[in-house]
Amino acid sequence: MPESAPSQEHTRVLYPLWNSPFLKACRRERAEVTPIWLMRQAGRYMAEYRAIRSKVSFLELCKRPDLAAEVTVTAADVLGVDAAILFADILLILEPMGFDLEFAKGEGPIIHNPVREAGHVDRVRPLQDPFPLNFVYEAVRSIRAALKPATPLIGFAGAPFTLACYAIEGGGSRHYETAKAFMYRDTGAWNALMTRFVDSTALYLNAQIAAGAQVVQIFDSWVGTLGPEDYRRFVQPHMARLFAELDPAVPAIQFGTDTGSLLELQRDAGGSVIGLDWRVDLARSWKRLGSQVAVQGNLDPVVLFADLPEIERQARRILEQAGGRPGHIFNLGHGILPQTPVDHVRALVDMVHNLSQSTH
Ligand code: CP3
Repeated sequence: MPESAPSQEHTRVLYPLWNSPFLKACRRERAEVTPIWLMRQAGRYMAEYRAIRSKVSFLELCKRPDLAAEVTVTAADVLGVDAAILFADILLILEPMGFDLEFAKGEGPIIHNPVREAGHVDRVRPLQDPFPLNFVYEAVRSIRAALKPATPLIGFAGAPFTLACYAIEGGGSRHYETAKAFMYRDTGAWNALMTRFVDSTALYLNAQIAAGAQVVQIFDSWVGTLGPEDYRRFVQPHMARLFAELDPAVPAIQFGTDTGSLLELQRDAGGSVIGLDWRVDLARSWKRLGSQVAVQGNLDPVVLFADLPEIERQARRILEQAGGRPGHIFNLGHGILPQTPVDHVRALVDMVHNLSQSTH
């Protein structure tokens, strides 16, 4: 029997993942540094990614567990970040649900058979079992085996609203008028569609967790197009059900952009961590959210195009706003853009680690 509680160093060695700064921050525990990872950290801005991508299409890359694992682990290693994110896409789940998905060169995703009327919802097949997306869980297992033992792996999926936007619009959109008109006009069909996405996504995320993801992030990239009343009516009950269906042992991060008017409603829907984009002030937003959630964010991705002193100024400001309170995960407010200089991204990771050591 040890005579005293094990030292911090001792527990870190015994439980490297559990005691990683990222998982500690998700649990709102004090960590030795502010953890940082970056959305789209594996992507076109990185030469290693472009080299692999020059040989296969984007969808093929997602469906080859060996390549997806290589891209994921390389990005985490090159950057020295505190978490890896599975290489995949939020739209992959649409294929086994009956959508005809294409990533067209230079155009982004296209869904050739969008849902346009209430009757179309019946042909959307909820996932009955997780198997059609086996290649994703296979990638999770390969990544877990290749990652440093203390680096957590984030699994992810699209949120029901953002998936519904793609399913109805048939691709990206500026105003989401087709999706929102459907939501207002055919509310019953909208709820049926959202229900199918919630059921399928819960199954999918729990399978990623079973395969070895330590955290999950739910990307509600386009939800900021809604005002608070519409969020409450058309989205919040579905998000609440999704969170209730997820393995409660695993922290869930809720991500959105342009969500300044939705934060309390998002928090009430569930999840351990709320993502903030750069349009909001981190300190004030965290105060609004209260001490029961962690926060993630919130550097403007475009700041990475500035010079290093400006990047450092902005990183320092964000860390000061977090004030050393446990439960801050440093990230961008949205994904890294394709033209971003890699050395600036690496410098940001070092800055956050160095600056936060002194504020903790
Ligand atoms: O963060 C990571 O490094 C993990 C990989 C990841 C990708 N997509 C790879 C990707 C993640 C987490 C996503 C999520 C995703 N996909 C979202 C939510 C996040 C966000 O950006 O808001 C959305 C909306 C999508 C849908 C999607 N996939 C679009 C709109 C596009 C085209 C736009 C673009 O950036 O090209 C994609 C393609 C995509 N997904 C690429 C990557 C690396 C680029 C594909 C290529 O190599 O050509």
